[in-house]
Amino acid sequence: MNDYYTLGIESTCDETGCAILCNEQILANVVASQIDLHTEYGGVVPELACRRHIDLIIPVVDEALQQAGIPLSKIDLIAVAQGPGLVGAIMVGLNCAKTLAWTLGKPLIAVNHIEAHLFAALMHQKTPAAYPCIGAVLSGGHTALVHITQPGVYQLIGQTVDDAIGEAFDKVARMLGLPYPGGPVIEALARQGDPKKYPLRAGSVKGHPLSFSFSGLKTAVLYTAKGKGAKPGSELLLPQSELPHLAASFQQAALEDIVLKVHKAAEMKGCKTILFGGGVTANQRLREMFAAHSQFTYHWPEKGLILDNAAMIAGLGLQKFRQQSKGAPLEIEAMPNMPFT
Ligand code: KG4
Ligand code: ZN
Repeated sequence: MNDYYTLGIESTCDETGCAILCNEQILANVVASQIDLHTEYGGVVPELACRRHIDLIIPVVDEALQQAGIPLSKIDLIAVAQGPGLVGAIMVGLNCAKTLAWTLGKPLIAVNHIEAHLFAALMHQKTPAAYPCIGAVLSGGHTALVHITQPGVYQLIGQTVDDAIGEAFDKVARMLGLPYPGGPVIEALARQGDPKKYPLRAGSVKGHPLSFSFSGLKTAVLYTAKGKGAKPGSELLLPQSELPHLAASFQQAALEDIVLKVHKAAEMKGCKTILFGGGVTANQRLREMFAAHSQFTYHWPEKGLILDNAAMIAGLGLQKFRQQSKGAPLEIEAMPNMPFT
């Protein structure tokens, strides 16, 4: 069989990505991060993200082809993230993908960015996942639990009613005067702190045991750091030496809630296998906490596939194209709220 080359494009938020696969093998996975651009604002500024994608998309595609060592003419399939995300940002990647598909006369396949995060957990696995299983999406924009009955078939069984888990890390970091993105900074600070120092808890939603709520936890951190009734921009009252303890206590409370609800979902659905996706799965403490439960099989995304990247888009696109044997029409539009269940 001839080698089959897929070019994937990701631009849903603040990373511009292009990846090239030869069959399932990743030849290149280029990600141009915009963190420097957004850090002074404490979060992603959609208009700035969109403009930066426009500047970066063609150089990133060129770089991926160069790293893969193949000419554009060898590409057989173009995969792109159609959503969810920032509409202007998605449009940049989508228009680039459509242009490539049209000029090369090759099929275009559009995938869901969140589904791709879960797919990433399977990309380097030697053994296929056992179905049915639970998917846990832990990203900056989403916190969701899905029951996966077979590859590509998802039922949403739990999600956040307010902030996403990554968003909670980002907002807590910001209120403590720490840079964006907050997840890695809080994790590093928490390593020097006592997670039991402050009695914090994530929220629960009455009658919905698999729903998440992090906004109360975030407010509890705010009041601990800056006094009751304080605003996020208020002055810090707590001494700097307490910040590692507060970071550790917040992280422990947030992650304990994830561990509890993921396992609850697995038990409710009778699943022994769990797939993880999204930027928060970079957190080593989270992985350690799950590792303590040996009765389950966990699939984590490997390095390079954890944060937003185009290899997961290309991989999922290739799988979908093989299943459907037809591409998407060039008329498809960006879907900022694209569902995958
Ligand atoms: O999946 P992702 O790259 O983008 C979205 O699709 O949202 O996730 C980014 C999120 C950010 O909120 C970031 O703070 C969080 O993942 N994150 C972490 C860690 N590394 C990234 N959260 C906790 N611990 C980390 N080590
Ligand atoms: Zn993402």
